[in-house]
Amino acid sequence: MTVALVPGSFDPPTNGHLDVIERCAGIFSDVVVGIIKNPSKVYLFDEAERTEMLTDLCSGWENVRIGLFGGLLVDYAKQVDADVVVKGLRAITDFDYEFQMSQMNRHLSGIVTLFVATKPEYGYLSSSLVKEVYRLGGAVDALVPASVAAALKERYV
Ligand code: PNS
Repeated sequence: MTVALVPGSFDPPTNGHLDVIERCAGIFSDVVVGIIKNPSKVYLFDEAERTEMLTDLCSGWENVRIGLFGGLLVDYAKQVDADVVVKGLRAITDFDYEFQMSQMNRHLSGIVTLFVATKPEYGYLSSSLVKEVYRLGGAVDALVPASVAAALKERYV
């Protein structure tokens, strides 16, 4: 049994996130999607909302569960018995920071980080851009699931 931890802010979840989670669901026996709760950060969607969205979006994958964590990722990885951390890489610009974090996490606990290349069509996609585009009146329907688009609509009414 190999447990993969897919961590992130997911504020909100995008099609890019779901692509990575789906890949993991097909490879690993168990997948934990770890939503970070950072009290010093302002999120558009709170912990409960992000948890509800992801629980709903991942309900079709029996081996995927959703969790919340604060503090160090490596401590949460230990708590959920994760064998690997999985991160999506959109472009080379993600690499520097992700590589740095993976090395720090390796230093802290020895955990392995695996990188999954996202679908090319989601290479430019980020939660921050989705929020900005939506707020300024752009269409995000091809970038996020319908339930997330509806949640954005409600939030920005
Ligand atoms: O979706 P994001 O915002 O890119 O996710 C970043 C996240 C949550 C994966 C990263 O900030 C993280 O791992 N935070 C936990 C705190 C931690 O362990 N920091 C040291 C990392 S080397």
